[in-house]
Amino acid sequence: MNNYNKKHIGKHALSPESMMLHYGYDPKLSQGAVKCPQFQTSTFVFDSAAQGKDFFNYASGRVEVPAGVEPGLIYSRFNNPVLEILEGRMALWDDAEDCLVTASGMAAISTTVLALSKPGDVVIYAEPIYGGTDTLLNTVLSQYNLHAVGFNSSAGDKGLAVAIAEAKKLGPISLVLMETPDNPTNQMIDIAACKALLEAVDQPEGEKPVLVVDNTMYGPIFQQPLSLGADLCIYSLTKYVGGHSDILGGSCSGSKALISKIRGFRNILGTNMDPNTAWLVMRSLETLKIRMQASADGAEKVVEFLLQHPLVEKIYYPGLLREGDPQYATFKKQCSGCSSTFSFTIQGAEKEAFKVLDAMQMAMLAVSLGGTETLVQHPASMTHSSVPEARRQEIGITDNLIRISVGLENPADIIADLAQALDTISK
Ligand SMILES: Cc1ncc(COP(=O)(O)O)c(C=O)c1O
Repeated sequence: MNNYNKKHIGKHALSPESMMLHYGYDPKLSQGAVKCPQFQTSTFVFDSAAQGKDFFNYASGRVEVPAGVEPGLIYSRFNNPVLEILEGRMALWDDAEDCLVTASGMAAISTTVLALSKPGDVVIYAEPIYGGTDTLLNTVLSQYNLHAVGFNSSAGDKGLAVAIAEAKKLGPISLVLMETPDNPTNQMIDIAACKALLEAVDQPEGEKPVLVVDNTMYGPIFQQPLSLGADLCIYSLTKYVGGHSDILGGSCSGSKALISKIRGFRNILGTNMDPNTAWLVMRSLETLKIRMQASADGAEKVVEFLLQHPLVEKIYYPGLLREGDPQYATFKKQCSGCSSTFSFTIQGAEKEAFKVLDAMQMAMLAVSLGGTETLVQHPASMTHSSVPEARRQEIGITDNLIRISVGLENPADIIADLAQALDTISK
């Protein structure tokens, strides 16, 4: 007997990739359609005025939803069947109590920071961090008296301990935001060690800082931060989850209490995902695991080629970490593999990096990552250009650094493309 919310068959727990095909969708509610239809509507009809009143009371939290009662559909900025099914499915990957989806990764990050902070609070973040997040914290939210304190991700939890001491002088710490591995240098931070530090922070109102991990680079296939101690897990769904470089989206997963607070802000800020995008992301979820695995296998071959190349200096790829490296143990503890996005430096500076990028014939010169096609870009002048130069040097975003997101092309073709592009700098 089919059950649309099934997570087990007998005692056997179903895998997230299997549940992406069915979970949360009841065909009986849609004329038996095998696939969840698109609900391309901005608003929903109430059976009666009293029902409309109840639905608004439930949505606003003024009245608790009675057991066995559906909270009801109101308006697509608050809820929509496709959005709700997508949120249920996204929560499964990280074994989260709840999840919400947003219009972009930045919408997920900004809505989360706003919902959990108030003026005078401090947000701690690990550097490097995505350039948009850096600008949000250091330029946009600083206008609202929200302080930002950064620490170098290569210093890991020791860096966080120093940042906590600095932050305490400025105000209460609302949250810690980090990417591990980071974009673009793939440095690892020990999530459990960070959580333990935050649990020990004493704040005037007793609330502990919330640990938020942006898992866009490795998740959800190669890393699940909530199981490692994070409170919230954020994705830019624009990347691997959407996976085809044709949508913008974001999500945040975690406990019901935290997600419902962030959802309240999202519904008013209007940072929700639109139903058509949600439908496309649901389609992408069906192939997420095989896409991430195949592109990761291709990336491993590309790394092997770059390792042998005389003009390549350093490759920031955690799969190359060896015992004895301080990051090795964290990588082994937190990740089940490497995604297909990594960076490498070449001999030379910006001129040589640009020469290689301009010479690529198949890989496309574009920012973003995690799509079916291979993309290359220059972090120092593109995704991380808003980070001041001195800080860029400190965190390894040098002018000779190139980032690649390996796609689903045959790895031999990507290698041939890189080989001829690298040849141009020795000419
Ligand atoms: C790690 C990471 N987080 C967040 C974002 C922002 O996502 P979006 O472009 O969907 O707003 C990006 C975008 O490149 C990213 O790389």
